[in-house]
Amino acid sequence: MYVPPRIVTNDDLSALVDTNDEWIRRRVGIAQRHIAVTETTADLAAKAARNALDSAGIDAASLDMILCATVSADYVSPNLACMVQKQLGALCPAYDINAACSAFLFLLETAAGYFARGKAKTILVVGAERMSRIVDWSDRGTCVIFGDGAGAAVLGAGDGYLDSVITVRGGDSVIKIPHHAGKSPFWDGNCEEPYIQMNGQETFKYAVNAMCGDIHTLFDRNGLTPDDIAWIVPHQANYRIIESAAKRSGIPQEKFYMNIERLGNTSSASIPMALDELSRAGKLTRGDKLILTAFGGGLANAACLLTW
Ligand code: COA
Repeated sequence: MYVPPRIVTNDDLSALVDTNDEWIRRRVGIAQRHIAVTETTADLAAKAARNALDSAGIDAASLDMILCATVSADYVSPNLACMVQKQLGALCPAYDINAACSAFLFLLETAAGYFARGKAKTILVVGAERMSRIVDWSDRGTCVIFGDGAGAAVLGAGDGYLDSVITVRGGDSVIKIPHHAGKSPFWDGNCEEPYIQMNGQETFKYAVNAMCGDIHTLFDRNGLTPDDIAWIVPHQANYRIIESAAKRSGIPQEKFYMNIERLGNTSSASIPMALDELSRAGKLTRGDKLILTAFGGGLANAACLLTW
């Protein structure tokens, strides 16, 4: 993982909008987030990618594919993966997937397809976000939630990716991030600001239902009980969402990894960053079964079961 060094506290935000540390901690569970000052989304992504390559002990020339997840790329084109390829000095194909906060799990599913067809041996997957670029810093309902960061993993073909579930309920009424409106002299329609708009309460309900439903699908299909799972690694959107999902699914909350207090919601980067923290803290043992679970814009949700 990589996060930019600048830490922004809740007190820092209360100087910008009508909010306070107590409200943000109690309603969302965030104390601070990292915010980029000069680094681009591609810089964050490439730094996480280099860390992943170092820990895998391979160089960029050995990669067969680079897949990136983002909703906050620096450009529409070239896509983020192209810019990561350039920074790493790799030569392999590279492209992005946009599925908002669930996108890292879409990358794993896509990579599994390449491995199954024998089209790749080593794939770099990266979730990277500069959410600070796409939040409206005058909207207290969203600007307190998000943070910047990137997480990456080097994947090899194997039998550790056991099962997955992906669901899309397409629509723009709950969460949307409009593109820049453009300046067409012919356009006579709506022109929206290119910032996140979110119905918090609808997102909350969707998130809890999605996580519980996906976890139970994976449990039922694979004959598992909570005792079989070492960790559930959820997308870090709101402490209370994870707490409600734990309560409703009957799984002890200690099995749900949480770092939202320190990092905020980093969208597609949150799951790979959480995995990196777990791994570096020595909390993962080879053979552990993990469930990764995410939800967000689309609306989309996804979960997968894997053996570490
Ligand atoms: N500071 C202080 N007060 C705030 C605030 C802030 N940052 N943001 C909203 N409020 C106020 C509201 O204006 C409202 O005031 P009112 O009662 O006077 O109208 C009150 O707090 C309650 O607002 P509400 O929106 O009902 O709060 P909530 O408990 O639903 O929490 C979210 C808001 C956004 C934190 C919560 O709905 C949430 O986390 N939703 C999911 C979001 C998410 O996961 N997004 C990412 C998708 S991947």
